[in-house]
Amino acid sequence: MANLETTYLGLKLRNPLIVSSSGLTSSVERVKKAEAAGAGAVVLKSLFEEQILHEAGSLSVSSDYPEAIDYLQAYVTSNNVENYLNLISEAKKAVSIPVIASINCMSASKWIDFAAKIQEAGADAIEVNVFILPNDPKMTTESYEELYYVLAEKLKKVVTIPIAFKLGAHFTNPLRIVEQLWYRKVEGVVLFNRFFEPDFDIEKMRVVSTEVFSNPSDLRNTLRWVGMAAEKVKNIDISASTGVHNGEAAVKLLLAGASTVQVCSALYKNGPEYLKEMLAYIETWMKSKGYTSVNQFRGAMSYGKIGDPAVYERSQFMKYYSSHE
Ligand SMILES: Cc1cc2nc3c(=O)[nH]c(=O)nc-3n(C[C@H](O)[C@H](O)[C@H](O)COP(=O)(O)O)c2cc1C
Repeated sequence: MANLETTYLGLKLRNPLIVSSSGLTSSVERVKKAEAAGAGAVVLKSLFEEQILHEAGSLSVSSDYPEAIDYLQAYVTSNNVENYLNLISEAKKAVSIPVIASINCMSASKWIDFAAKIQEAGADAIEVNVFILPNDPKMTTESYEELYYVLAEKLKKVVTIPIAFKLGAHFTNPLRIVEQLWYRKVEGVVLFNRFFEPDFDIEKMRVVSTEVFSNPSDLRNTLRWVGMAAEKVKNIDISASTGVHNGEAAVKLLLAGASTVQVCSALYKNGPEYLKEMLAYIETWMKSKGYTSVNQFRGAMSYGKIGDPAVYERSQFMKYYSSHE
């Protein structure tokens, strides 16, 4: 039988498939289901910075949208922090796979001290799901990026468990962010998160939410950046996320150099049991290629292994255009 074991953030996983932070990991029962379906690890649904600040009595929100404030207040009061710490400790008791906690944040503020409680509750690692929307034309790109680094430095002072930063896909130079986080001893990055994107309902004249699930074609962007990061920032662990809808996509990301592969939309659509099918695909593919462990092929198609990425892409691009004249 193929050995699917992998190491991520210093943790030993029985296989590289992780159930992403979402409603799929919001209760002990769901975490147990993920384990039974074969998950190598789970990332619990995110606790929001606003929830922590609310309980600390320091949440001050202001927005042009009164509805947004109402939603936020209702959300933070019904999803309290104590419940989250219980979820961590109960999940740890209930399953033997690693349990990674997650915080959604937009600043390096007072909430950071709370990370120590997450560690005390028994989380194996923390995934920091940072969402900083660059909405101020007067702020420089560097000053936005600096927020990530300050956050990493502060968190590193508070916890000793491993940290992964779950990043959005829209940096000018994502590789620099990854490298700078590595310099600050962040153990891993998740490439990439998929954020809420607004749409307009032009009948009701309201801002509405769009499709939350990804498409299989979203994989391409993930594949490119995982392949590049694995080559250029050698020692940081990469967990690939967004657009993984089948076992083939997972194999591609491992070939690109990912340590682990996170799955969310595909499990919402097909149920957690779908992980079994994905794992079976990976095993069958490994067998067909004569691989007995994931380490034998991880990164075999990273950008370093396939030659100069610029030449590679440029030539494909030229081929595409010349064949569509
Ligand atoms: C319903 C739903 C809830 C989510 N909740 C969270 C969350 O709490 N924290 C987080 O970091 N990501 C959250 N995500 C993002 C997923 O973890 C994942 O990064 C994203 O969906 C891309 O992966 P996919 O293509 O496998 O869906 C959520 C996604 C969905 C669809």
